[in-house]
Amino acid sequence: MKRSECRVPQEEIELQRDFIRKVKEINHGVLKKYSVQTFGCQMNENDSERLAGMLYEMGYTEAKDIKESDVIIFNTCCVRENAEVKVYGHLGALKKLKSENPNMVIAVCGCMMQQSQIVEHIKSKYRHVDLIFGTHNLYKFPEMLHDALNSRETIIDVWESEGSIAENMPIERKDGIKAWVTIMYGCNNFCSYCIVPYVRGRERSRHPDDIINEVSMLGRNNYKEITLLGQNVNSYGKDLENGLSFAGLLKELDKIDGIERIRFMTSHPKDLSDELLEAMKDCKKVCEHLHLPIQSGSTGILKEMNRKYTKEHYLELADKVKKTIPDIALTTDIIVGFPGETEEDFDETIDVIEKARFDMAYTFLYSKRTGTPAAKSEQQVSEETKKLRFEKLLEVQNRISKEINDEYLGKTVEVLVEGYSKNSPNKLTGRTRTNKVVNFKGEIKLVGKLVNVEINKVQTWSLEGEVTAVYS
Ligand code: SAH
Ligand code: SF4
Ligand code: F3S
Repeated sequence: MKRSECRVPQEEIELQRDFIRKVKEINHGVLKKYSVQTFGCQMNENDSERLAGMLYEMGYTEAKDIKESDVIIFNTCCVRENAEVKVYGHLGALKKLKSENPNMVIAVCGCMMQQSQIVEHIKSKYRHVDLIFGTHNLYKFPEMLHDALNSRETIIDVWESEGSIAENMPIERKDGIKAWVTIMYGCNNFCSYCIVPYVRGRERSRHPDDIINEVSMLGRNNYKEITLLGQNVNSYGKDLENGLSFAGLLKELDKIDGIERIRFMTSHPKDLSDELLEAMKDCKKVCEHLHLPIQSGSTGILKEMNRKYTKEHYLELADKVKKTIPDIALTTDIIVGFPGETEEDFDETIDVIEKARFDMAYTFLYSKRTGTPAAKSEQQVSEETKKLRFEKLLEVQNRISKEINDEYLGKTVEVLVEGYSKNSPNKLTGRTRTNKVVNFKGEIKLVGKLVNVEINKVQTWSLEGEVTAVYS
């Protein structure tokens, strides 16, 4: 069924604005501090920016040290077990702080909270938590915080299924040059290992007008780069009546003044259309980088994963991408140790890495997620085997990444300057259109500008060089 109206009604948004005013009153205009800790993907980062925006309007500023916070939020992820373990560690550590400062509000939200067994666990083992909410009602945070400030009980509000999309909520972005723009929520694909469709609901696309308005505003506010986010951006618009396709959306966004670069993630190989590749080629601002997760190189494992493509199909696609858009960087995600993965299956993955020649691969050890079909398999791979395969994969991929980077030596590349480098603080850092990190000497006034850098040193993860020209 297509949706003609996808937004949360304006009265609902106004109601939240009232709660923003009420929380401000409770705090008597005294400036308070917040801390938002984010786990997981960029979509969670973007959600946290919205939480920060609402907190800012309620009179809170970001705490330098979590200990001085009046409100602490953990925006959680459950895609792999280690993301969850980290959250429990942080929550445990806060018990003492909460007993010293009982007025502090500790909130937990995000993907983990969409699972009832996790909410139960937190309720019984982490009783110092004041507020629990899920992924579908983030926009109601002012109301929930208001209730938590007025109650001694733990406030719990988790919606089982998705609602409409809330527009025009406040936002406090982390960066002033690059911005995340979520264009769709949820996922319909149900890859057999993945928890995301269960915790993020079905696909819902934002109305193109809302996205165009947001990006135009970013352009006016001196943002230079946007990254469009969705679990599978290739199916953007399919749920909307008279909606644009993703390629159509890119063409509209390409016209927006001020924005110099457009990126997006993630694309599912089964939905990568020729129309999209043509749009990538034609739109000047769309960068030459495609993140196209393969997950495994074995057709048998891909079938078990419910990915709906074969090894051969993926390789043909990779070839087409590289032919259509010369010099494009191709990156991927790979899971090692999916249930039933044999040495032969793993060799197929290595073979694909050698053939597709990814610029970079994000590699994960398979993690059993309760509620997903793969978790029920009796053919789980041992941790030891997973680790051995992981290391082998990394070794092959690192060699290829370095070989690809070597081709940059002596070339001049366009870099968007982001700020000082964390690893070498006397150098500036930025990225090429192909998403390679470049470090170079330069003055702070270059931040936010596009510059040309001639590459004179190459490493596996980054490039180095000297500025030869400055634009915009
Ligand atoms: N929607 C995106 C990304 C989803 S999560 C996509 O389809 O590409 C990001 C990555 O986490 C996935 O690409 C996958 O490689 C990995 N992942 C998801 N579930 C996992 C699990 N149970 N164990 C290990 N890695 C997993
Ligand atoms: Fe998970 Fe697959 Fe959806 Fe990506 S496409 S979020 S891996 S179910
Ligand atoms: Fe994690 Fe949720 Fe993103 S499970 S990867 S934070 S969609």
